[in-house]
Amino acid sequence: MKKVLMTGVSGFIGSNLLDFLIKNTNWHITGYDNLSTGNKENISEHLNNKRFTFCEADAFTISTLRDYDVVFHLAALPRIQPSFELISEHITANVLLAAHLLEVMIREQHYPKLIYSGSSAVYGTPEKIPTPESEKIDCLSPYAFQKYEVERYLELIATRYPIDYVTLRYFNPYGPRSFNEKNAFNAYSSVVGIFLNKAKKGEPMLVTGDGSQQRDFIHVEDIASANYQAAIHPQKLNTFFNIGQGATLSVLDLAKKIGGPYNFIPKREGEAEITFADNSKARTILNWEPKGNLSEYLKHELQK
Ligand SMILES: NC(=O)c1ccc[n+]([C@@H]2O[C@H](COP(=O)([O-])OP(=O)(O)OC[C@H]3O[C@@H](n4cnc5c(N)ncnc54)[C@H](O)[C@@H]3O)[C@@H](O)[C@H]2O)c1
Repeated sequence: MKKVLMTGVSGFIGSNLLDFLIKNTNWHITGYDNLSTGNKENISEHLNNKRFTFCEADAFTISTLRDYDVVFHLAALPRIQPSFELISEHITANVLLAAHLLEVMIREQHYPKLIYSGSSAVYGTPEKIPTPESEKIDCLSPYAFQKYEVERYLELIATRYPIDYVTLRYFNPYGPRSFNEKNAFNAYSSVVGIFLNKAKKGEPMLVTGDGSQQRDFIHVEDIASANYQAAIHPQKLNTFFNIGQGATLSVLDLAKKIGGPYNFIPKREGEAEITFADNSKARTILNWEPKGNLSEYLKHELQK
């Protein structure tokens, strides 16, 4: 039985990773969340589970990692547009918090396997389609840059200390709980969740630009299974992986697939024209395979 720590456990991806670990392992999970964008309801079904301890606290208060075999670091302020304005707040959440966890490891000389939630935003608008991990880095937003900065810190710190880490560069996650009505930043959450929310209310979906921008949509359970596969990998990998479906759909086609009215709103700066993962590295090394099906998910959600 592993003892694992998860930061950002009440968020969209964290709560789905918690579901996955409770269902598929016998591990004990300690989850931290300060509820800045997360929601306690996301994890309510596990609050009485003996295998789960919830700490409603800022992850900066974590002072020891001695007890853990694995750390899943998900806590962040993961929104592109707000990162242009609330700069220091985003640096604190997206960079300094990871630095804090590394400092605790170095101080204690205890190095649990660290699975870091990275982002395909680091590629900007890529030249190679589908995009392999060797693609050049081109950060179009402070958020993308912050996600990349942590990747570089991991690489640099690993030259001096025996840290054991994996970065997972998620493409465009969708799935249960991606849209949180109470989250102040919900206008910038997954477009799948936003469109479904609008369509269910009979309101027009708001397509940015001309909607030709393409996205590699990946089901959140596949993100959870990638975290799991990385955590159980027997070797020290110290590398990064693309976690995407390996397929792409335009935002306009997504609106059409969902059905219902849509309007166009101005394009947003800092967002990629296309995301499309070459996921062969994760398939080969992590023995991971995405199983989600976007069409089925949409059908299921619209029938609810
Ligand atoms: N959702 C996406 O589109 C996407 C894409 C690529 C990468 N990611 C990465 O995946 C991770 C999870 O994203 P998400 O979509 O679940 O976001 P989310 O906002 O739903 O979850 C993040 C969680 O972290 C918590 N948090 C933030 N700062 C904290 C702190 N200092 N201490 C404790 N908790 C804190 C928030 O309350 C929230 O519950 C992030 O690292 C994000 O950068 C997300």
